[in-house]
Amino acid sequence: DGELLESPKAVTYAIPDNVFAETVTMVKHYTERLFRFRITRPASFRFRSGEFVMIGLPNAEKPVFRAYSIASPSWDEEIEFFSIKVPGGPLTEHLQKIKVGDTVLMRKKPTGTLVLDALLPGKRLYLLSTGTGVAPFASLIRDPETYEKFEEVVLIQTCRDVAELDYARELAAGLADDPLVGEYADRLRLYLTTTREPSGHMGRITDLMASGKFFEDTGLPPIDPATDRGMICGSMAMLKDCKAMLEGFGLVEGANNAPASFVVERAFVG
Ligand code: A2P
Repeated sequence: DGELLESPKAVTYAIPDNVFAETVTMVKHYTERLFRFRITRPASFRFRSGEFVMIGLPNAEKPVFRAYSIASPSWDEEIEFFSIKVPGGPLTEHLQKIKVGDTVLMRKKPTGTLVLDALLPGKRLYLLSTGTGVAPFASLIRDPETYEKFEEVVLIQTCRDVAELDYARELAAGLADDPLVGEYADRLRLYLTTTREPSGHMGRITDLMASGKFFEDTGLPPIDPATDRGMICGSMAMLKDCKAMLEGFGLVEGANNAPASFVVERAFVG
């Protein structure tokens, strides 16, 4: 049937009022499972570093939208995302094929709990992530406000393999040359661990903190509710375990309307 063979590319769909249609400006693939991309930023779009937004592709009348943490800081001229590629995933199956010049849809309202306003003042900020859960922290470690509020920032990411940690490593290495946060580069500490491929630090962060190995490796004192604050982003199981761990150290979960000593957000796609 001739009609069924018509290329879907020839079809254009109307962009709804609550959605921005933006242009892809760069794509970088890290592994078979992870990639990063940047899109143009609409002039009217405002967000707080650490928030997420719904994104989709203009490839259907009713596009599939998924929550993505914004990985760029709030001052950036573009918007960056760090994504997993889920085989057969309704969005990521297509999203992983995007190229510079393609269109990405972004809903207009950002939201989220991994924001500095949801934490009480403290000295040291722990950012705990697994996999793509590092995305909101990629935003926060590039925001000067993070270093105005905290003397030290400890970015922790656990992944299966070494190459999956490249994005975090690249971000940390680029910090010194960043015009807005370069002066704070020595206040960011990076602690990267793998669970499947051998590396310098092996094991889940929960196990490494429970055994004391993390504190031995870094020389940091045990987590203290008087000085330390936390943010957690990863899978449901990881959130549950990290939340219990921080509560074990005496930290209390907060929210936008009730700041406390740690906040939690699920890494959405994956
Ligand atoms: P593991 O290899 O032991 O499962 P994934 O790629 O499946 O999203 O996992 C990302 C990383 O998070 C992996 O290194 C995985 O370790 C780790 N991980 C999975 N569950 C937890 C958890 N409950 N607490 C801490 N780390 C976890």
